[in-house]
Amino acid sequence: MTLKTIDFFAGGGGLSLGFQQAGFNVVCAVENWQPALDVYRANFPGHEAVSLDLSNEYETLQLLDSYRPDLIIGGPPCQDFSSAGKRDEGGGRASLTINYANVISQYRPSFFLMENVARAATSNAFKAALDIFKRAGYGLTIQLLNAAHCGAPQSRKRLIVLGQLNGKDGFLDHALTSGLSDQPMTLRQYFRNKLPFEHYYRHPRSYARRAVFSIDEPSPTIRGVNRPIPKGYPGHAGDPVPVGEGIRSLTTQERALIQTFPAKFKLPGSKSDVEQVIGNAVPVKLAEYVAKALAHYLTQCEDAQTLPMNGQLFEPRRVLRAA
Ligand SMILES: C[S@@+](CC[C@H](N)C(=O)[O-])C[C@H]1O[C@@H](n2cnc3c(N)ncnc32)[C@H](O)[C@@H]1O
Repeated sequence: MTLKTIDFFAGGGGLSLGFQQAGFNVVCAVENWQPALDVYRANFPGHEAVSLDLSNEYETLQLLDSYRPDLIIGGPPCQDFSSAGKRDEGGGRASLTINYANVISQYRPSFFLMENVARAATSNAFKAALDIFKRAGYGLTIQLLNAAHCGAPQSRKRLIVLGQLNGKDGFLDHALTSGLSDQPMTLRQYFRNKLPFEHYYRHPRSYARRAVFSIDEPSPTIRGVNRPIPKGYPGHAGDPVPVGEGIRSLTTQERALIQTFPAKFKLPGSKSDVEQVIGNAVPVKLAEYVAKALAHYLTQCEDAQTLPMNGQLFEPRRVLRAA
């Protein structure tokens, strides 16, 4: 079964690519940052990539009315929740989570996915979004997944919420947890000895943390900024080897590969923008893992003939007809 899918806050397309690789029919991506759109368009010539501010719920619903997707996927931006920055739930980007929930509850696709950083779980915006989904009639599966257990060589925890209209809570729990690997994937396992180094530098947020990592462990989270080794790096007791000859920070391309983008993935744009697009992405293999779990569930429902889809029993509302 191929669900007609739309990707909101699409960035350069990590989530889109994972879902596409799992067989979903991604027809449209929405994003309002031009550098991300440039990367997306370079790699998905067959998808519409629309520039739209998703805080505008009316225009977003108009777009949904024209595409009529069965599945909406998206990761509302996470700066307000992430440990990277100062938390600001006041009126900043956390409200995009509410916008996303509002749009889903009004359009009511058969399925949706919302992806966010782990600490979003304790935020008011996240809790309010769950409440909106429940009131709209969604059964919810909520799982915190580490990409390193889902086929990506990177320690990156993401909160995954999947909703099924008129479904049961926990409907995808088994499918999402049963395929997790026991051991986290290391860089050496993923790249099969093709990396030209054994250790590398990843600039720490503070010198209280180590900065040198081995390829015999998953990489730490790939962030949106990639700094070279500063002259005054003091070293850290946890560094497996001292910074010296042969130790360097990762290249842009290496970071994209660790995010499990394929080697042929195009990265047009300035270095700083591309680094940001890469750091923002959902690892493709994590997205694919989640998408495959959903695909498996859909097949089971299809076999049991228990799946009401959009356009069948639960036609999504044409919310704008009377507007
Ligand atoms: C966490 S990133 C998404 C990454 C993407 N899911 C992927 O896997 O590559 C969030 C994206 O939302 C975009 N964004 C932020 N505010 C937006 C808005 N108001 N409307 C549309 N897109 C927005 C950002 O430019 C950013 O690319």
